[in-house]
Parts: sequence; structure tokens; C-alpha cells
Amino acid sequence: MSEPYYNVIRPHGGVLVDRVLRGEVREAVRERAERMVKVPLGRMGLSDLELLATGALSPLTGFMLKADYDRCVEEMRLANGLVWSIPVTLAVEQGLADRVREGQEVALCEGERVLAVMEVAEKYPYDRKVKEREAREVYRTTDEAHPGVARLYRQGEVLLGGDIWLVDWPAACKTEFPELRHTPAETRRMFARRGWRSVVGFQTRNPIHRAHEYIQKTALEIVDGLFLHPLVGETKKDDIPAEVRIASYQAILRDYYPAERVILGVFPAAMRYAGPREAIFHAIARKNYGCTHFIVGRDHAGVGNYYGTYDAQNIFDQFPPEDIGIVPLRFEHAFYCKKCGGIVSAKTCPHGPEDRIFLSGTQVRQMLERGEMLPEEFTRPEVARVLLEGMKHRK
Ligand code: ADX
Repeated sequence: MSEPYYNVIRPHGGVLVDRVLRGEVREAVRERAERMVKVPLGRMGLSDLELLATGALSPLTGFMLKADYDRCVEEMRLANGLVWSIPVTLAVEQGLADRVREGQEVALCEGERVLAVMEVAEKYPYDRKVKEREAREVYRTTDEAHPGVARLYRQGEVLLGGDIWLVDWPAACKTEFPELRHTPAETRRMFARRGWRSVVGFQTRNPIHRAHEYIQKTALEIVDGLFLHPLVGETKKDDIPAEVRIASYQAILRDYYPAERVILGVFPAAMRYAGPREAIFHAIARKNYGCTHFIVGRDHAGVGNYYGTYDAQNIFDQFPPEDIGIVPLRFEHAFYCKKCGGIVSAKTCPHGPEDRIFLSGTQVRQMLERGEMLPEEFTRPEVARVLLEGMKHRK
């Protein structure tokens, strides 16, 4: 029986990209790649490669060329006018760039292992001035204390742009949550098979807490399915490790979520911490995975005090909705109110701050480090136990 595709949202740009080589072509290209100049990928590069190959970043088919990069940085659009808010680039050191000319094929590698080939269509400068412009425009700060900006400044000083073809998967695909690493083609099939006409995507880089659960379930009241999609690529050192975060989801899903209405998957991307710009990027990627709606809560993808609490929601207003194509579901800051006896927000609760139970990420980490159980109003005990256990093994 053919699968029902009628309800599936179009990918960004209209076509789901697939840059994974298979069969004899793959063998031939892999063999040829052994003789090419090898370009080692860092952790974010490996994540980007996987996202590009599987179509999560459709319509991108490779690392950005200069015209796309410049317009993305300055106007949040690709050269062809499609909305795109975060540069997806491949930076290399000058010495390596000197060994590559435009038009040449290079091998993208994890250590010595060839993962992909890229036809270098362009080489272009990525000096301090260019980086500072990217920092200012994309991250809204040039401060090196910002983890995304710090990474940007650390990168090599030349960008290589061109289409990629994957011949082998990064090691993480086999070792880190292989059973949850659904590609966009897979999630689209999973949603269609369940007959979901509307699906809300949820991005997170944290363990699940009660406010998360509240906004997920509130969203689920108005759509058919919930796609929980924690990010598992590189995060900053003091974020809770991905395996603990995923374990927190597995613990809560068993007992508190309707299995037939929820799918858990992992998003291989690295965190940029670019706040508003990253919210657009996260939303468009989830559209490629087949979501029709996307949750944007308080300070989405933010860090420190670089962004206003609702900047990541307001940025969607800069675009006609059809240019984004996935509906952002905006949520107010949610918290536990003792008087209401549940999770609420300023939109639904008349009581004051003295009745609220709110814990910052730092407070949570400190409590876990001291081996203290988190309050039930903040996190379900099943989750708190997973976190305590997980953090114990880290010491
Ligand atoms: S993020 O960097 O991946 O955005 P986090 O895991 O903290 O960080 O948040 C996941 C999603 O939940 C984001 O959309 C965020 O805005 C939202 N969110 C987190 N905490 C709250 C809260 N207390 N109230 C409302 N939204 C929240």
C-alpha cells in the first residue's frame, strides 16, 4: 500500500535535499576521495555535514558560497531570496586553503576517515573583519565571552564553499543515539503513517522540566502530534550532557506522555547560541523534518543576557509568514505558582513573584552537584533522579 503523503508540509525551498551517495557510485567516489586533499572537520562541521546530507538544511546542498553567506549575514536570506538566518560555512586555516584551488574536489574527513567530497566552487576570506560583521549581525554582539562568537573567532581564516556528497556517516551516527537519529525523510514518513496533519516541533538543549512539559502539552492540545527534538551536537561545557538530557526524556515519556501522539528524535546540530536568528534556523530545519508548527518560548537559543526574553519570537514578525512556512507557537515565560497550584504564565496567573517557584539553570546545576533532589514543582521526581544519577557519573 502506498504511504499517505497528503498531509506533509513542503520542505524549505520545495525539495527535500538528499546528498547521500549509495551503491557503486558511493564506492567509486570514496576510492577517488582517498587521493584528494583532506579537510578535517571539527565537531560543528561534522554536525553540519550530517544535516546537509540528510536534507535537514534544505535547500542547502553544501557549505555556503559567498553570495549566500553575505546575504544571509546581512539580510537573513540566501542569494535566491529564500529566508536563511544562520551561516552554514566551512572555515579552514590559510595553509590548507593554499593547497586547494577553486574547482578542485576535496575530501571532508573525521580524523583520517573520509566522509564526504566537496567540489570547492569558491574560496573566500574569513578574516577578523568579516568575522566581526558576522558576530554583530548574527549574534548581535562582538563579545568574545559569547560562546558562539568565541567559536566563530577561533575558526580558520578562509571559507570553502561548495556542494557536498556524503560517502560515509560521522561516527556519532553509530555511537550517539542511533535509534533516535531519524532523518527528515524518516520523520516525514513517521508523521504521515500516524496520519498527523499537524505536528509541533520542540527544540531543546536542556533536560525536561515542568515548564517545558507545560508548553509542549499546551501545544499538543491544538495539533495532532508532538515531535520532541533535543539538540545533541556540540554545546557549551557547562550545559548538561546530551546523554543525561535524552535519558530525562526517556524517563518522562514512559509515564506522562501519550505514546501514539509523541515522537522523540535527536537533532544533530551544534548550538550556536544565536538567540533570535537561531530560532528561525531551528524552525526552518524542523519544517524540513516535516513539522507544521514550532515552539518558541522564552529566550529561545539564548545565553547570558545577550537577548531580550521575547526577541526570538519577535524576529518572526520581520518576515511574511509564507516566507518561513512553519508556524511559530509563542509561549510566555512559564513557571510554577504556589497559589494556582500548577504551571502558569503571566498571561494566565494573577499572583505575584513571591508565589512563584523558579530555578535558573545555574541553580539547578549547583543543586545537582551538591546531590540535592530538585523540587517537584520544578521537575518531576523521575527526571530529577535521572539528573542526579547522570551528574554523579560525571564527577
Ligand atoms: S534552547 O537553547 O534550546 O532554546 P531550552 O532547552 O532551555 O533552550 O528551551 C527549549 C524551548 O523551551 C525554547 O523554545 C525555550 O524558549 C522554551 N522554554 C524554556 N524554558 C521556558 C519557560 N520557563 N517558559 C517558557 N518557555 C520556555
